[in-house]
Amino acid sequence: MTDHHLPQVKLDDLKIGMYVILPLSWHEHPFLKSHFVIQSEGEIWKLRELGLKTVQVDAAKSRRPETPAPLQPKKSPEKRVETTELITTIRDRSLTPENKSRIVKQHSVAMMKDLLENPTAQNIKEVQKGISEIVQLILNDDSTLHYLLNITSHDFYTYTHSVSVGVLGVSLAKILFKNSDAHDLQALGVGFFLHDIGKVNIDPSIITKPGKLTPDEMNEMRRHPSQGFKILHEAKQLTDESRTIVLQHHERFDGGGYPKGLRDQEIHIYGRICSIADVYDALTSDRPYRQKMLPFTALKIMREEMIHHFQRDLFEKFIMMFRAP
Ligand SMILES: [Fe+2]
Repeated sequence: MTDHHLPQVKLDDLKIGMYVILPLSWHEHPFLKSHFVIQSEGEIWKLRELGLKTVQVDAAKSRRPETPAPLQPKKSPEKRVETTELITTIRDRSLTPENKSRIVKQHSVAMMKDLLENPTAQNIKEVQKGISEIVQLILNDDSTLHYLLNITSHDFYTYTHSVSVGVLGVSLAKILFKNSDAHDLQALGVGFFLHDIGKVNIDPSIITKPGKLTPDEMNEMRRHPSQGFKILHEAKQLTDESRTIVLQHHERFDGGGYPKGLRDQEIHIYGRICSIADVYDALTSDRPYRQKMLPFTALKIMREEMIHHFQRDLFEKFIMMFRAP
C-alpha cells in the first residue's frame, strides 16, 4: 500500500514521530502494522534491522516537529532488560524458520543493546534467561539455525556483533560438544553473547571511531577483555568458564593476541572458539572504512591469511556450519 508521491527517507534519517509506510507485508516485519508513527529509538533500530535502504514517510500523518516527543534520558539506571518477547518468539510454533530467525535476531539485538546501556547485575541475570532459550533453539531447531547463521549485519554495533558471535559460538560448540556431557552450553552461550561487555568501560569515541586507532587508543581498546572479566566477576552471575571466554577472546593461537599473548592450548578451548566467531563476524559486517565481505570471502581470507590466529581443526569445523543443510 505504498504511495509513490511520498518521499523516501534513509534509515539513518528516521526520527521519532515520523509516519512510516513499510513496503513489506505484515509477516515480513515485527511490527503490528505496516504503517505507523515511530514511537521510540527502539523502533527505529528495528526498522534498520529490516535491511531496507529507505522507507516512505507521510509528513501529513507524522507528529509535528514543533511538538517533539517527551525527552527521555538515554541511560536510565532503572531500565530493565526485557526478554519476554524474545522468549515468546522462540517458543512460537506458528512462525516459519526464516521469520523466526529474523525476529529472534531483532529481539536478541534489542536485548543486548539494553544490557550494554545498563550492564547491571539484575540485567545480566535477565539476559541469561533469554540466552538460555536461544541456546535451546540452536541445539534443537536446525532449520531456524540455518537462517540465523546466514543473517549478516549491516552495521557493526557492539550489540549486533554480540548476538552474531553468540549464535556462531554456540553453533560451533554444538558441533564440537554435542556428544559430550562435559560442557555446559548454557553457560558457554552467555560467555559468547557477553564477550564484548567490557567495551562499556572504554571511551565511546574510541569504540565508534571510523578510522584507524592511534597506539594510545589501541591500548585503551585492548582493555575491554579484562574490563569485561571484571564486570562479570563483580556481578557474580557467571561461571568461571563464561568469564574466561570474555577474557580470552582476543588471544591468538600463535601467541600474537591480547591481553596476555597466550598461545595454543594455553588459551581455553572456549576462548579459541570465540576468537574464530569474533573475527568472522567482524569481516562480514560493514565497517566505516570498508564494506562487508561475503561469507565465502571472509572464510577464504581467514584460511589463507589468518589461519595462524586460529586452531586449524576448529576453523575447519566452523566452515562446515555454513554448508547447505
Ligand atoms: Fe572484543
